[in-house]
Amino acid sequence: MKVLFIGDIVGSVGRNALKQLLPKLKTKYTPNFIIVNGENAAAGRGITAAIAKEFFDLGVHGITMGNHTWDQKDIFDFIDTEDRIVRPANFPKGTPGKGFTVIKGKDADLAIVNLQGRTFLPPLDCPFEKADEIIRELGKKNKYIFVDFHAEATSEKLAMGWYLDGRVSAVVGTHTHVQTHDERILPQGTAYITDVGMVGPRDGILGMERQAVIQKFRTQLPVRFIVDEGKWHFHAVLIDMDTAGKGRKIQTIRLMEEDVLFD
Ligand SMILES: [Fe+2]
Ligand SMILES: [Fe+2]
Repeated sequence: MKVLFIGDIVGSVGRNALKQLLPKLKTKYTPNFIIVNGENAAAGRGITAAIAKEFFDLGVHGITMGNHTWDQKDIFDFIDTEDRIVRPANFPKGTPGKGFTVIKGKDADLAIVNLQGRTFLPPLDCPFEKADEIIRELGKKNKYIFVDFHAEATSEKLAMGWYLDGRVSAVVGTHTHVQTHDERILPQGTAYITDVGMVGPRDGILGMERQAVIQKFRTQLPVRFIVDEGKWHFHAVLIDMDTAGKGRKIQTIRLMEEDVLFD
């Protein structure tokens, strides 16, 4: 069972990169499931129904979110009826949407769980306790459980990886937009990486136009961030799982717009 997970897709540059690359990646890696993080897909902030549809039409099976989940107001019109989108499960009780879902596959199903960290991010419910609760429920029926842990702190993500080792197939980090180089299979069989990285404008800062970000750091004055343009970079991971649902192999994918694209 192979899962291709693609990191935070930022704005139209990121969406165009996905459109361009996905057919080639499908041919090259033949993943059973494709998941993307969509929290920055609409001009860097949130996702719209039209963009979600565009992703599904490209062959994406599931979309995870993060701290930008509510940035587009039309999300409230479809998040409760769209079973293929998950937002962090540890958002307050009663929040629209859901924190985990099971995507039906030809040979096997894949459970997707989204959680958000609490370090340098809003104070949510405990993601570790929430993970326990969800695994208790999912574990009865599902061998393949994939977790996107959307968090800022490297240590919190590593803690989640080790905490869930052997209980889920994979824990991948998102949110920092920078791919880490620590992908591995943990001892009890969970595939792990601290951050998958982003898809989108690469000469900005985390996908945003860089002059505004520099200005913000230099002056501390209010600045309006806009999504950058220009060339893209693309970051993803391919995770191979065995028939027991354990991670067998995790590999990073990192592509630049002008790289010779494989045929
Ligand atoms: Fe993001
Ligand atoms: Fe984020």
